[in-house]
Amino acid sequence: MSIETPEPIVAAASGSATRWRLFAVVRPGLEPLLLMELMELLPEAEFEELVGGIAWRGTMEDLWTVALGSRLAEGLRVRVATFKAFRFDQLIAGSSKAPWHAFLPAGATVESRVTCHTSRLYHSDAVAERVEGAILERLAGRPVKPGAVPPTTPFRIYVRMEDDVCTLSVDAAGELMHRRGYRTEVGKAPARETLAAAVATIGRSLMEEPALVWDPFCGTGSMVIESAMAWAEQEPGEHRSFAFEHWPATPTEAFAAWRTKWLASRPEPVRGTVPRHLGTDIDPRCVSSGERNAERAGVETTVSFAESDAAIAELPCGERDALLVLCNPPYGDRLRGAVDPLRRLRERLLSRRAPTALVMLAPRGLAEGYMARGGRIVAEIRNGGIPVVLLAWSNRDEG
Ligand SMILES: C[S@@+](CC[C@H](N)C(=O)[O-])C[C@H]1O[C@@H](n2cnc3c(N)ncnc32)[C@H](O)[C@@H]1O
Repeated sequence: MSIETPEPIVAAASGSATRWRLFAVVRPGLEPLLLMELMELLPEAEFEELVGGIAWRGTMEDLWTVALGSRLAEGLRVRVATFKAFRFDQLIAGSSKAPWHAFLPAGATVESRVTCHTSRLYHSDAVAERVEGAILERLAGRPVKPGAVPPTTPFRIYVRMEDDVCTLSVDAAGELMHRRGYRTEVGKAPARETLAAAVATIGRSLMEEPALVWDPFCGTGSMVIESAMAWAEQEPGEHRSFAFEHWPATPTEAFAAWRTKWLASRPEPVRGTVPRHLGTDIDPRCVSSGERNAERAGVETTVSFAESDAAIAELPCGERDALLVLCNPPYGDRLRGAVDPLRRLRERLLSRRAPTALVMLAPRGLAEGYMARGGRIVAEIRNGGIPVVLLAWSNRDEG
């Protein structure tokens, strides 16, 4: 049996070259977008694109960087051990040997998520029971750090059985990473902040200097808020905490010092370069919730909201203004208004001469009118169980 045992995390925090197997989780379909983001955050790292995420060997500081700086990652994990196990005694032995003391404080509770594929140990509940039991036995009787309050939320462990090989990973994020902390008010069918950030990222790649970034179906505002945050170079993880902050081996003071330094070293937006953002929605409750969300996100000076029916309203910018539209429109039974607002929007956008671009998260059928005019599908994903595409269109790319 071979166990992959990481060296002490503390070494990484003090700048050593200790490398960990790290994994950033993303919604399937968005891996290439996350890869591009990680390459910007960690230009030195060598990444491997996998289904549902990006893997790499990195230091503890890499983990911190992605935690604070990734707009697209949904989660972050560290691989703790990999070993062969086709019997329960092997599973228990391997699970006991992993270096849990680095990740789990005394008194911690654990919760495991198990997947089993083509393995003799195929019963996920039984696997979970053995792994959790081994971990708790290992932690039992460990002295509690003086002054340490045992965390109330369980630590999440990922167990993957594939071809009789068990891989154990520990969750480093805690709450999923789309929870930035600002969106306490949500409407119907909200897009996760991470997905809204993906739309915003594509938008920024389509147009460098929009006079207006507009979401005509803004709900409680995640697309315009995420876009304004990105344009303002505001770090998405700045206002939340992470599971790794509770790890016994995370050097609290070193992390705090690194965090302050890293945040200060991030690029400043050039004054005046954050474009005006506007979110409009037919539902007045969305408008007030959006305003409060934007305020909590700290982007209230660049993002405003108004009540408006996209089917009848004029475009909210001058004829010559460069316009970037980001949206996750209603479809099916969520459509409101007498006229189809999507058809009206399309007619207005396609007839513009000034620079105009659109990123839309919608079922493929709604993208067709734009596809005929040079639009392209950037990603195919599932949102709320429904297959949707991310469409990018710009009237500067029309053939
Ligand atoms: C899928 S939701 C958008 C959610 C949003 N992206 C978020 O994260 O909160 C669609 C929104 O379109 C709005 N809507 C429906 N018909 C509309 C219309 N005719 N004009 C403007 N907004 C409309 C709904 O009120 C709803 O908030």
